[in-house]
Amino acid sequence: DSTGPLADTRVLITAGPTREAIDPVRYLSNRSSGKMGFALAEAARALGAEVTLVAGPVQLPTPAGVSRIDVVSARDMLAAVEARVDSCDIFIGCAAVADYRLAEIAEHKLKKRGDEALSLSLVQNPDIIARVTDRPAPPFTVGFAAETRDMARYARDKLERKRLDLIIANDVASPGLGFGADDNAAVLYHFADAPSEELISHSLTPRRKRDLATAIFDYLLTRYHRAPLS
Ligand code: C5P
Repeated sequence: DSTGPLADTRVLITAGPTREAIDPVRYLSNRSSGKMGFALAEAARALGAEVTLVAGPVQLPTPAGVSRIDVVSARDMLAAVEARVDSCDIFIGCAAVADYRLAEIAEHKLKKRGDEALSLSLVQNPDIIARVTDRPAPPFTVGFAAETRDMARYARDKLERKRLDLIIANDVASPGLGFGADDNAAVLYHFADAPSEELISHSLTPRRKRDLATAIFDYLLTRYHRAPLS
């Protein structure tokens, strides 16, 4: 019943941080607010898409018309994504997934032990977006890269390593932009179609995250329709 350029298109988006428990009252996390992912969900919905948002712990209202699944840890997020990814057309990994979790979660609150130092043992979390592109018929997949330097080099590396169709790099070192802020700027990178396959970049100047999300979809639409039909 939707109209717009993304009518009949199913979009799955991850947003926000993940939280990795240390004990029943403590956790490891990061400063992601979820604002960019929520703005993307709202923009996709406005273009007519059927949108599912898998959200880590954030303080944000659900955009109208979007279905939301709340998760806590990276492994919860992976399970929520894997249950839905085969029935989506576009996947956008906007979440700031914790790279590590505790090797073991303490059953009871850790106690301070005299003057002794405490070491926590961490193990790597699964790479959710790489699991998505590992599927037999992956969706059009978009990743994010929060970098403070060498954006083009890291973007190229992540496009290749995670087999992404598009990557959105934001400069988290600029004051007032990126993590937690209301504004963001971005550079979009992808490889040109064969035969050239050169790295193409498209810069979007700083603006409200909502407006950035709309601009990202404007550009994404020029790439998505070029993807081979599966
Ligand atoms: O390698 P890096 O963490 O910089 O990659 C960022 C991109 O990968 C983002 O799109 C993020 O959502 C995704 N990612 C993920 N699972 C992880 C780590 C990152 O999906 N464990």
